[in-house]
Amino acid sequence: MINIKEIKAEDTYEIRLSVLRKEIDLPYKFKEDFDESTFHLGAYHNNELVGVASFIKNKMEGFEEDQYQLRGMATVLKVRGKGYGKKIINESKNILGQKNTHILWCNARKEAVSFYEELTFNIVGAVFNVDKVGEHFKMFTKI
Ligand SMILES: CC(C)(COP(=O)(O)OP(=O)(O)OC[C@H]1O[C@@H](n2cnc3c(N)ncnc32)[C@H](O)[C@@H]1OP(=O)(O)O)[C@@H](O)C(=O)NCCC(=O)NCCS
Repeated sequence: MINIKEIKAEDTYEIRLSVLRKEIDLPYKFKEDFDESTFHLGAYHNNELVGVASFIKNKMEGFEEDQYQLRGMATVLKVRGKGYGKKIINESKNILGQKNTHILWCNARKEAVSFYEELTFNIVGAVFNVDKVGEHFKMFTKI
């Protein structure tokens, strides 16, 4: 059974490191991790944390509405494609809706674009490169 819960910033670190920073020498802690407005969600399989994502009150150029940035979205390899990522995003939309936030956006790795498209995100603007990680697109969804 998939269970989504709010978790602490520190609880995201292990999966961020193993999935998003594997062989990539970039920080796995974000400066906004402990901001009051930031929240982190974890996906559990039984009692095991298998997916994480963080939601940070950052603005994307071109949008004036209240908005959040999704960062550190990752699920462990053994649960991929089983709906854990989708459940995290859907739960975040419930929480953001209660905060009167109308936009959720992210810098999506090229290989994750289809995942976000499945979840109603759209690409905005041109591809851009992130040093050590590769090509990205800005994507957003309305809440
Ligand atoms: C991207 C990622 C978080 C997706 O998590 P997940 O738990 O596998 O996603 P889900 O199983 O909830 O998938 C939701 C939907 O997206 C689809 N999907 C997931 N990953 C996909 C991909 N790479 N390409 C195409 N479709 C994909 C699923 O088939 C599913 O569709 P459905 O609802 O029609 O069945 C996960 O693959 C991951 O951690 N990747 C490595 C890290 C990464 O790239 N993170 C994103 C950084 S921007």
